[in-house]
Parts: sequence; C-alpha cells; structure tokens
Amino acid sequence: MINVQCPSLVILLEMIILGIETSCDETACGIVRISSPDAGLELLSNSVLSSMDLHAKYGGVIPEIAARSHIEAIIPVIEEALTTAKVTWDEVDAIAVTYGAGLGGSLLVGVMTARSLAITKDKPLYAINHVEAHVYANFLTKTELKDYNLTDKTPAFPCLALIVSGGHSQLVLFRNHFDYTLLGQTQDDAIGEAFDKVAKITGLPYPGGPSIGKKAMAGNPHAFSLPKAKMAGKYDFSFSGLKTAVLRQAQELCGQDFTFPSKNLPAALNEAQKADIAAVFQRVAIETVVDKTIQAFEEFSPTSVVIAGGVAASPDLRRQLKERLPIDINYQDPKLMTDNGAMIAALGAYKHYFSQPKADSYTLEINPNLSM
Ligand code: KG4
Ligand code: ZN
Repeated sequence: MINVQCPSLVILLEMIILGIETSCDETACGIVRISSPDAGLELLSNSVLSSMDLHAKYGGVIPEIAARSHIEAIIPVIEEALTTAKVTWDEVDAIAVTYGAGLGGSLLVGVMTARSLAITKDKPLYAINHVEAHVYANFLTKTELKDYNLTDKTPAFPCLALIVSGGHSQLVLFRNHFDYTLLGQTQDDAIGEAFDKVAKITGLPYPGGPSIGKKAMAGNPHAFSLPKAKMAGKYDFSFSGLKTAVLRQAQELCGQDFTFPSKNLPAALNEAQKADIAAVFQRVAIETVVDKTIQAFEEFSPTSVVIAGGVAASPDLRRQLKERLPIDINYQDPKLMTDNGAMIAALGAYKHYFSQPKADSYTLEINPNLSM
C-alpha cells in the first residue's frame, strides 16, 4: 500500500507482509506491517500450531509426522493469522516463506502453499532463510496483540547475532540488512539438540531446553566437571562430545560402566542426580556459546548484540550474557524466539521494503541444507 500525503508531500510507504513457516514441527503464519524500517515492525498476528505433543513420546521430531501435521494445519493457521490481524488478502502486499534450512517434507508443505497463494492471489513471493529470519524476530517493536512484551527498539548495526536453536548454533556479524558474515557455527550437534538429547538421557520431557532449565534449578551447576570442546575455528562450536560426556557421567553416577544402555538410565538415576546433571550440562553448554559471543564482541566491537532461536528463551543464557557483556541486550518476547511465522514475515518485510530479489512463484524449490 502506498500513501502520498499532501500537502506536505510526505511519502509514506506502508506494507503488509504475510510469512509462512513450516521448517520443523511448528506450522506457523505471522503478519507484520512495515512503515518506518528504522522504528521496527508492527506485529499484527502470530499463529502457531505445534505438533510437538505428537513427537514428545519419541524424544525428538519425527519428520513424517511433522510433514503430515503441516498438511492438516497450514490452511487453518493462515486463515487464523488473517482473522487475528484483521487483514484481507487484498491488503497483503507480499508473501514470505521459509525455503530452508529444515526438514524436506515439512519445508515442501510451506513452500508449495506459499507458491500457490502467490500465484492465485497475485502477490510477490520472498524465499526466506530460516536462520536469518530468527534474527529478524528482534525487529518486531510494536503490537496491539495481548500477552506480548516486545523489545522497544531495533538492533543497531553492526550487530552481533547469536543464533541458538534445535537445528543451529551460529555467530553472525550483520553490518547492515542483507550484509552479514558467518563467524562460526556448530560442527556437529546444535545446542538445542544437545539439550534435547540430555533430556532423553535423564528422562526429562521433550523439548529438553525448558525441562532441563527447570530441573537445573534444584541442582548444583558445579557438582562435577564436563569438558568444553576445543575447536580449530575460532568461533565454531561442538556439542556432541559434551552430550557423550553427560552419558558417561550419568552411567558413573548410578554405578554402571559405559556399556549400561542409555534407555535404562532415567530409572537408575535419582532426582538429585538428574538435577545435578541438568545443572552442570546447562552451565557448560551455555558458557560455551557465551564465551564465543564475548570473544566476538571484543574483536568486532558491535553496536548491538541480539540472541535468537529457541535456546535464546533460556533464562540462564540471558543471565550469563547480562553478567559478562558490557552492553545491554534488548530481549525479545520468548514467544518470538521459538519457530514462528512473524519472524519470516519480518525478514520478508525488509526484503520487500528495500526491493530485494523476489522468488519465482512457479519454480521456487526447498533447500533443506541451506546455510547462511
Ligand atoms: O528455534 P526452535 O523453536 O526450532 C529450531 O529451529 O530448532 O528451537 C527449538 C529448540 C529446542 O531444542 C528446545 O529444547 C530449545 O529450542 N529451547 C530451549 C528453551 N526453549 C526452547 N532451550 C533452552 N531454554 C529454553 N527455555
Ligand atoms: Zn528455528
């Protein structure tokens, strides 16, 4: 929508973007409005339907179940997002969709839906990198929706972004919109994946991040030591060794050798031992990403630091960063940290506003292994 206000001849560009996200187990659609990019975006709606409950008994996401759930949920979720935003298709200026990284079958549902809508509703389409979009959740600054506590200003460039989720652990330096350098990333498991696996070892519910965080409150974070991986790449991470060290420690605590099957561990550990494992693991995993964030802060002197992705909802991560960074971080509402459609719409809004390349609605393909 373009408004030309006379007589002062102020040209106000106002655009509404609809974002679709289906890369993992959340079927999500969010709608945002952009009018003054420096002031941030208005969140109009953020509908998320998770199939997490269906995966919980397996201790991780089952790709086939996730894809089937997306097929059932995608249209109702988009309709709910439009209704909540009080926006009609005529008022939507562009569609943005996650095309990677993620689970192939899940991404396909979102991309094919977005392509069909872009063609039938005659809207431009933007292909969105899921990990980059996590950072853009921090550009949502106002809303009339209830129960959201949004950050009040947009991150200033240059901005150091720590992206920590179930699929990713990355440190990225953004010089400006669309101009960034990947400083480092995990060489094996993502930090959220490690939380989920340690939860499985200790018999805590999936997803592991919140359940480990809760259990850790009753434990001693220095009850024993766990190793931090030494990496060749200055800003790279590794979490698979830490997960194995937790497994060995759990076997030792219950007086078994390393042949003791991990599936029998939850019953063999008492509650105090589980709490100590959760507390020590959480401290070491979070310290690992905080150490590198501080190192990158010292090297690049960014104006702002943002955290993004599901693990950014961790109170322990927030506490450690607050204690060790010389600048304040503007924390986003935790509902916008885990996977959602608003962050996809947010990056789409900046792309549309700044006339970035559009995707071809007839040919856009998924890219499950997309990197930054
Ligand atoms: O960003 P996200 O919703 O999905 C991916 O793109 O992966 O992140 C999900 C991950 C899970 O591994 C979950 O255990 C973790 O985020 N997580 C947390 C918290 N809430 C979710 N980790 C630590 N503390 C939390 N409060
Ligand atoms: Zn994510």
